Amino acid sequence: MDADNTIISIKGVSKIYDKSFAAVDDFTLDVKKGEFVTLLGPSGCGKTTTLRMIAGFELPTKGKIFLNGQDITDLPPYKRPVNTVFQHYALFPNLDVYDNIAFGLKLKKIPVETTDKGGNKRTVYRRLSAQEIDQKVAHALAIVDMEEMEDRSIGNLSGGQQQRVAIARAIVNEPQVLLLDEPLSALDHKMRLDMQIELKEMHRKLGITFIYVTHDQEEALSMSDTIVVMRDGAIQQVGTPESIYNEPVSAYVADFIGESNIYGGTMSGKMQVRFLGKVWNCVDNFPLNEKVDVVIRPEDVVIGTPGKGTVDGLISSRVFKGEDYSYVILVGKSEVLCRGTKARAVGSKVSIRVAKENLQIMHKDLINNEWRDAYLDGKGNVVISGDSFPVDLTRLLKGSVIDDDGYLSDPKSGKSYDLTDAEAIATCDFTDAVMSDDLERGHAVGRIVDSVWLGDHYRDLVRTEEEEDYICATPYQWNEGDTVSVDIPPKAIRLRLKKDLESYVVGK
Ligand SMILES: Nc1ncnc2c1ncn2[C@@H]1O[C@H](COP(=O)(O)OP(=O)(O)OP(=O)(O)O)[C@@H](O)[C@H]1O
Ligand SMILES: [Mg+2]
Repeated sequence: MDADNTIISIKGVSKIYDKSFAAVDDFTLDVKKGEFVTLLGPSGCGKTTTLRMIAGFELPTKGKIFLNGQDITDLPPYKRPVNTVFQHYALFPNLDVYDNIAFGLKLKKIPVETTDKGGNKRTVYRRLSAQEIDQKVAHALAIVDMEEMEDRSIGNLSGGQQQRVAIARAIVNEPQVLLLDEPLSALDHKMRLDMQIELKEMHRKLGITFIYVTHDQEEALSMSDTIVVMRDGAIQQVGTPESIYNEPVSAYVADFIGESNIYGGTMSGKMQVRFLGKVWNCVDNFPLNEKVDVVIRPEDVVIGTPGKGTVDGLISSRVFKGEDYSYVILVGKSEVLCRGTKARAVGSKVSIRVAKENLQIMHKDLINNEWRDAYLDGKGNVVISGDSFPVDLTRLLKGSVIDDDGYLSDPKSGKSYDLTDAEAIATCDFTDAVMSDDLERGHAVGRIVDSVWLGDHYRDLVRTEEEEDYICATPYQWNEGDTVSVDIPPKAIRLRLKKDLESYVVGK
């Protein structure tokens, strides 16, 4: 990349709280002059912490931050040519619009180079004149489109107008970089859309760099030059809105950016993947039998006459969206979201197909074990591809117990739930899936097909005959090809029911 064009360079920055929790984890990013960069991710992923380190309100535990090539990692906030618009913008309620914006300027001292009588150069500091302040405030107000409002009191401005004042107050100091932390989150939907357009316009007029934080993917897609998708303090993907939308690198990113169909699949041949019970052609070549995630955008699913596509299904819902319909098609028990301009009746049989280049195949996200097609057997077990694991069902409802009939029961409401055959997504941490060479000990038996050393432990993949995978973290070295059993403590299995718990009430 063109080094001269880089304004901010963040190199390997981490922020560790309480000695061990990494709120930001080895974050590296170059931001270009004039770029509109958005940090996007769910609550708690470290967006604000990253922004605060750029602003100087927080010091990195590790790593460096450069501005125009100069190391600013330890520079105090007021010495950085950076301003922040906060999530909760605190305007002074007793001051009018003008004084809110001018507040910082009135305190500001600017350096002036002079020569004293002895001919020595000296720097003296002076305050801005009233006229200079007037000019700067007028310019800032023009940028946020509030020229006529300088005498208004803060209390009787709308939310959107208050937001504009907060932005004007930040840009009046002429920063090189403007940091915006969810600035539109307090506004209603309509106002937010208007302000998105206006922010983009302000960015154009100012010509400075914006680093914007949001958890709203639409906001990120519509405004940014570059989107940085974050998860658990780390960067997942950096790219233009188009590339992130069209070529997500993981199921996590695909799921976060827009609506997607995501299925667990297995590579079944050269450029062939098996999911939804069928083999589909694709353009990605992954190793045979590799477990993958398949991502399909709803608009890429083509609906046709039964028997003419790759798989048939039943239309289970239809919602009119103005320009087209949004459909849910059931293929077996799996849902396929799709769009279509033709009106089709709920209940009708259709086929679906997807052009091979529209199947995004990606490595499985290895965060924890996840079994999406599990179900409960009503006897206190969760069944994963035919293997039953005892599980603590009371984790599904706070304060619940298992009653004499084996039902989950809530003493507070008096309701009982019969969870026999209830479909669920089961997850557990890698460290909780324990391998043993005693095949009687665990509840599933398989072969170790992969073992990777991750610096302080091994991550082993155990595959059962049913082709179900268990990922186990272990300090010990095992051999690939060994047959082992896998045990998971009942309390370590987390369950998410596919249907609402209320649909299992006994006697309903
Ligand atoms: N001073 C602190 N001490 C300990 N933990 C902190 C501190 N500040 C933030 N954290 C934690 O760091 C993580 C990241 O927080 P951060 O505020 O950066 O998230 P965020 O992505 O901005 O989330 P949100 O969208 O909710 O604003 C969170 O788990 C948070 O609880
Ligand atoms: Mg935040």
